[in-house]
Amino acid sequence: MNRILIGAQWGDEGKGKIIDILSRKSDIIVRYQGGNNAGHTVKFDDQTHILHLIPSGILHKDKVCVIGNGVVIDPAAFFKEVDVLEKKGIRVKGRLFVSEQAHLILPHHRLMDCLREEDAKKGEQIGTTKKGIGPCYADKMARVGIRVGDLRNLPYFKERLEAVLKERNEILRKIYKHPGLSFKEVLAECLSTRSRLLEYSIDTPSYLFSASRKGKSLLFEGAQGTLLDVDHGTYPFVTSSNASVGGAITGSGVSPTLIDRVIGVVKAYTTRVGEGPFPSQFPAALMKEIQKKGDEFGSTTGRPRRCGWFDALIVRHSVRINGLDEMALMKLDVLSGLPELKIAVAYELDGKTYGDFPPSSCDFARVKPVYETMKGWKEDLTHVKRWKDLPANARKYLKRLERLMETPIRMISVGSKRSQTVIL
Ligand code: GDP
Ligand code: IMO
Ligand code: MG
Repeated sequence: MNRILIGAQWGDEGKGKIIDILSRKSDIIVRYQGGNNAGHTVKFDDQTHILHLIPSGILHKDKVCVIGNGVVIDPAAFFKEVDVLEKKGIRVKGRLFVSEQAHLILPHHRLMDCLREEDAKKGEQIGTTKKGIGPCYADKMARVGIRVGDLRNLPYFKERLEAVLKERNEILRKIYKHPGLSFKEVLAECLSTRSRLLEYSIDTPSYLFSASRKGKSLLFEGAQGTLLDVDHGTYPFVTSSNASVGGAITGSGVSPTLIDRVIGVVKAYTTRVGEGPFPSQFPAALMKEIQKKGDEFGSTTGRPRRCGWFDALIVRHSVRINGLDEMALMKLDVLSGLPELKIAVAYELDGKTYGDFPPSSCDFARVKPVYETMKGWKEDLTHVKRWKDLPANARKYLKRLERLMETPIRMISVGSKRSQTVIL
């Protein structure tokens, strides 16, 4: 059974927790897009692990993990994570592989990401994680990027690095009034991790193809969420990769004919980090309350996540774009104690009502949500193990979400630990 797991909102839905659970029944866990902008949290045995670049499946000591060609890799960030895991006694060598075709995040990418954000006028900032993600993917598409496998051929690597740095330094000096980066220093940084990184690098598409031929099951770990997808999200307030289902195919080299199921992860409400429109955002007081109850602070940058009511239109958009077969519904426990719950079921704009997510980002920035209101529940849900033990109003809320999403909920999460999960 080969499965893809996708975030169905703006990221941070709780993908890490579900990947951890699904990893038990998978042989190989594959990351296929994004980079260390992601932050996936897994909690068990009173330990908290936050993975950025390495698939969350690595915490299962008998599983193999692959970082696919669609991922962008900052070698320093990669080894920082490897070292943290090894220090915890989780050995990764020999069961973690990196694609030779994955692009490298280089110092000028990180610098450009920071400078662009600082330079952008208010309203034009994306609120990126400043990890160099956008500039790295831009170089990939402009065909001037440098890939992990290029490190094998040192003269070729140096030649490409020198050429791209020369051009970037012109931009840094002329547009950003920055002195530019020294080729010698950037090269030294790349060389410091070169041989170690090459030890992890393999031809991942061939590896995955033969593993699948031998009957191994693959689990694809999405990063970010569908509304942050560069094509299908709230452009331009998105990340620079395909966080939706297509990214799993191009970003791993595995054929869509091998995929059996696509699973969506969705929060019982909505959150968003960084800039961009968010129609169902809570008023300030409620936002503070839910941020606190749901511990809604970014696992990568520590920024507070904006919070809001469940938006059925954006999730239905995700269901359709990704062909989601089932849902994992997360953080239901956080809503306990609210007297009533709202769900955005339509948008209003210029006197017209819209029942589906509008593809135009200009319109989306101006829409006003139309809410349906449901009764809340007081009970603490963190010990609930079975559907029938949920309060009646919580069950009604979930049933309503299921209908609006047009997709069955198969897992309900009522706390951050593995054990706090209701499997239906
Ligand atoms: P990801 O990026 O989608 O993997 O999600 P993050 O790890 O960035 O954010 C999800 C946060 O919610 C983490 O701190 C999780 O430990 C936590 N979490 C996951 N599921 C639940 C849940 O059902 N209830 C509560 N209260 N917290 C949860
Ligand atoms: P996980 O995998 C939430 C957001 C940033 C910013 C936009 C672009 O943990 O769900 P980038 O640095 O990617 O160029 O920033 O995307 N963003 C995320 N938001 N969860 C994430 O990952 C995110 N990765 C990027 O906040 O708005
Ligand atoms: Mg996250």
